[in-house]
Amino acid sequence: MIDLASGTEIKRFSTHRYPEQVALSRDGRRVYVSNILPHLGSYDQPPVSELLALDATKQVVAERILIPGAIELRHIAEAPAQLGGYLLVPLVRPKNLGPLIRVSQGWVLTHGMAVVRPALHEPVGEAESKVTEVLLDDIDYYFAGNDGVAFTPDGRRVIITSAEANVVSIFDTAKLARRLQQVPAEELADRLDSALTFVVARLATGHNPTAVVVSPDGLRAYVANRLDDSLTVVDLAHLKVASTIDLGGPKCITPMRRGEQLFFSAKYCFQGQFACGTCHPNSHLDGLAWNLETPQLGRDRVANRTLRGIRDTAPYKWNGRNPDLATQCGPRIAKFLFRSEGFNTQELEALLTYINNIPLAPNRHLAPDGQYTEAQERGKAIFYRRHTNDGRVIPVQSRCETCHPAETHYTNRISTEVGSATKYDTSGLLDTPQLDRVYEDAPYLHNGEALTLEEIWTVFNNYDTHGITSDMSKEQLNDMIEFLKTL
Ligand code: HEC
Ligand code: HEC
Repeated sequence: MIDLASGTEIKRFSTHRYPEQVALSRDGRRVYVSNILPHLGSYDQPPVSELLALDATKQVVAERILIPGAIELRHIAEAPAQLGGYLLVPLVRPKNLGPLIRVSQGWVLTHGMAVVRPALHEPVGEAESKVTEVLLDDIDYYFAGNDGVAFTPDGRRVIITSAEANVVSIFDTAKLARRLQQVPAEELADRLDSALTFVVARLATGHNPTAVVVSPDGLRAYVANRLDDSLTVVDLAHLKVASTIDLGGPKCITPMRRGEQLFFSAKYCFQGQFACGTCHPNSHLDGLAWNLETPQLGRDRVANRTLRGIRDTAPYKWNGRNPDLATQCGPRIAKFLFRSEGFNTQELEALLTYINNIPLAPNRHLAPDGQYTEAQERGKAIFYRRHTNDGRVIPVQSRCETCHPAETHYTNRISTEVGSATKYDTSGLLDTPQLDRVYEDAPYLHNGEALTLEEIWTVFNNYDTHGITSDMSKEQLNDMIEFLKTL
C-alpha cells in the first residue's frame, strides 16, 4: 500500500504466489487480489487457490478466500449492487491427479470462473465468503485461458475473454443465476453442460485477448489482444464484432512473436482443451505435479518445470531423456499432450525460437549492485564448503558445486541418483536441475514433494545422499538457502 501524495510505502501485505490482479470493491471497503499459483500443498491432493480480501479502512487482511480445485485466478469483476455485488474470477480447473492420457476423453483441464459472494458484513477475520465454480467450456469444445471479465453497467450481461482460444464469450446473468440455483454447487464445478444454458454469444478476437472493459453507456466492449497490438470492439446490442482497432504495432511478425502466439494458443490441442501456456502460465510453471504418459499409469508423477532461461540446460525433463527442445516440444507434445497433429515445421521453429529466449525474471533477493548480505555471504561459503563442521573432507561427488556448477547455470547436465526417488518412481536417476532463480520454482524435486527449499534437506535428505547436510546447524542451512535465492 502506497501513499500517493508522498510516494512512500505504508504497508506490505503477503498475497499468495504470483499475485495477478487487484480490484477495489464498488463501496470502497475491500481490495481483492487474485493469485496465479495455488497454495503449496500435498502433491496428491487437488490444488487450492486464494483470492485475498483486504479491509480497506482497517488496512488488514479481511479474509483469504479459498477457491478449491482451481489455479490461475485472473481478473476480478464485481456485479452491480442490484445483482447482489458478487464477484466473478476466471480460473482453470486442472485434473492433474488423473493420468493425462485422458485428453482424448476430455476434461483434463477445464476453464471457468468462480462466483464469489463476499461476506462483507462480518467482522474482520470472521468472514466466510461463499464460492461456487462454473465452467465456460462446451461438452465438445473448450475455451482455454479465461482472463478478462467485465459486467455491463445494467448487470444484464458479462463479457469474459478466453485468451488461449482467441474468443470472447458473452453471457446472460439472469440465466447464470438460474443455473446456479438449479444445480448443486458440488456438481456444478465439473459440469460441461452449463455454458450452453447461459452463454449467448462467442465472438472471435485477435491473438491472446487478456482484458476487457465495457463503455459507460453499455454499448461497446473493448477487448485487448495482447499478442496482436490491437483492440476488438464488440457491439453489445447486436452481439457482434463492430471493428478492430490497430494500435500500430510492428507489421512484421518475428518468429519470436509468432512463437509466443503459438505458445498461448489452444487450437493445436484436441478440442482446444489447452495451450502450452495453460500449464506454463507466464512461461513458467503451474505449481502442480502431473501424471504424464507413462507405461504404468499413476507412477512417475512429475512436478512442472519452468521454461525460463532453459536454453542451455539440456537435456530436458526430470528423467533427462529429452536431448533438446525440438524433441521435447515437437512430436512428443503432439503425441502425448495435444493428441493432435501438433505444430508444422515452421510453427515448431517459431515456438522453439520463443522458448529458447524466455528470459529469467530479475532476482528479487539480490541487491541491484550484486553485493551479498552477510547471510548470503555465509551461505555461499557453505555451498562451496569442502569440510564438514567436524573437519571431515566432503567427497568431491557430494559437494554441491560438483553437480551444480556456477558456469553452467548450476547444473552439470547429467542425471544422478540423490536418494529422492519413491516407490512410485521407475528410476532414481534424475536430471540435475539448473538453479537459476530457484526460489521461484516451488514445489521442489522431481515429484514436487518438497514444498520449500528447506524441506529438500530437512525432510528428504536424511542419509546425506543429496549433498552432506546432516551436520549443518539450522542457522547454516538458513544461510545456504539465502545464498540459493541469489542464484
Ligand atoms: C498438462 C500440463 C502441460 C502442458 C499443456 C505443457 N506442459 Fe510442458 N511440462 C509439464 C510438466 C509436468 C513438465 C515436467 C515434465 C517432466 O520433467 O517429465 C513439463 C516440462 C516441459 C519442458 C522441459 C523443461 C525442462 O527444463 O526440462 C519443456 C521445454 C516444456 N514443458 C515445454 C512445453 C511446451 C512447448 C508446451 C506446449 C506445446 C507444453 N510444455 C505444454 C506440463 C505441461
Ligand atoms: C550428486 C549430484 C548432486 C549433489 C552433490 C547435489 N545435488 Fe542438488 N540435485 C541433484 C539432483 C539429481 C536433483 C534432482 C533431485 C530430484 O528432483 O528428486 C537436485 C535437486 C536440487 C534442488 C532442487 C531444484 C528444483 O528445482 O527442484 C536444489 C535447490 C539443489 N539440488 C541444491 C543442492 C545443494 C545446495 C547441494 C549441496 C548441499 C546439492 N544440491 C548437492 C544433484 C545433486
